[in-house]
Amino acid sequence: MIPSIAPRIEINLAKIAHNAKILSKLFGSKGIQIMGITKGVCGSPEVAREFVNNGIHLLGDSNITNLKKMHEAGIKAEFVLVRTPALSEIELVFSYADISLNTELTVIKSLSDVATSNNSVHKIILMIEMGDLREGIMPANIVEFIQEVLHLPGVKIVGIGANFACFGGIKPDEENMKLLSELAIAMEKRFSLSLPYISGGNSANYNWFLTTKNTGQVNNLRLGESILLGRETLNRIAIPGLFTDAFSFISEVIESKIKPSVPYGEITQNSLGQTPHFKERGNIRRGILKVGFQDVLVSGLTPKLDMEILGSSSDHTVLDAKKVNLQVGDEVAFSLNYGAVLSVMSSPNVLKKYIHTLSANEQSQIQF
Ligand SMILES: Cc1ncc(COP(=O)(O)O)c(C=O)c1O
Repeated sequence: MIPSIAPRIEINLAKIAHNAKILSKLFGSKGIQIMGITKGVCGSPEVAREFVNNGIHLLGDSNITNLKKMHEAGIKAEFVLVRTPALSEIELVFSYADISLNTELTVIKSLSDVATSNNSVHKIILMIEMGDLREGIMPANIVEFIQEVLHLPGVKIVGIGANFACFGGIKPDEENMKLLSELAIAMEKRFSLSLPYISGGNSANYNWFLTTKNTGQVNNLRLGESILLGRETLNRIAIPGLFTDAFSFISEVIESKIKPSVPYGEITQNSLGQTPHFKERGNIRRGILKVGFQDVLVSGLTPKLDMEILGSSSDHTVLDAKKVNLQVGDEVAFSLNYGAVLSVMSSPNVLKKYIHTLSANEQSQIQF
């Protein structure tokens, strides 16, 4: 028998496909199209293909090399760079993104120059600052900004958008969604524009979507976490009918011994430059895993069995195995949050294992 390899991440494509299909249907019922965000899976073509096969034809990523990867894997979709381009990557953005999100005139001028010299036009969505204070043009400056952009022959404004609950944790609500809609109407009228994309936010917009009586002009949401992990992102509550366990992380035990729970000797700094503190819990079974913070965001892992992560260095993670009689060679499985999925999918040291089926029990949970 071929031994299984750890560390590995197991990615259940059938579960992701199901989530994509349900969310496309749900948001589509009020005229909202989904842009599937692939950065959490490092632009995995396998995952992107499930998005496309289940109704998501617009794919967004914040990393241009991920867009290039999907492009080269033959994924048939419209590709969006969901981050304002860096001046150093304008040629790549022109080559691999059909649309990019933008907030800076210098960058847009550079995109226009590259597109013009290729006898082409690059499409842009202007991001509006609505309180979360990451990217965005202040609403008070948008008229002036659009006036400038309209002088540039190599770019076409195809939409406006806003982002929430990413940097400042600000919630998309009736007030800011209405403001975005009003801004869209005003800009279309003032500049005789047609804006096919009014992109209201991300997985944090789920509660607004469910409760609002009027989605206004918002006709697009950019969803990553809710498709991949089946949760909204204001409180990380599971979305009914979705799988929350499409990803599992598996690591291997390389040492298991009964030892004290508190390090002894003079305490100085650890490998992260921090002075650690540990709870006294007597002698415990300490399991060491062949994985560390160079491979995975350890704080985003939750053991599936009753064990506790005590800490990690770059290449070791130490567990309190509690009542589990861990042995060298055993595999330990974890569920992952979005940050942990993102770190593992980007790590060259972690094997990616794709699973294409559901168990009979999981199959019976699906209601269409
Ligand atoms: C601009 C932008 N839109 C959408 C998303 C997707 O967010 P979420 O995974 O919460 O749906 C992100 C983050 O990945 C983003 O940076």
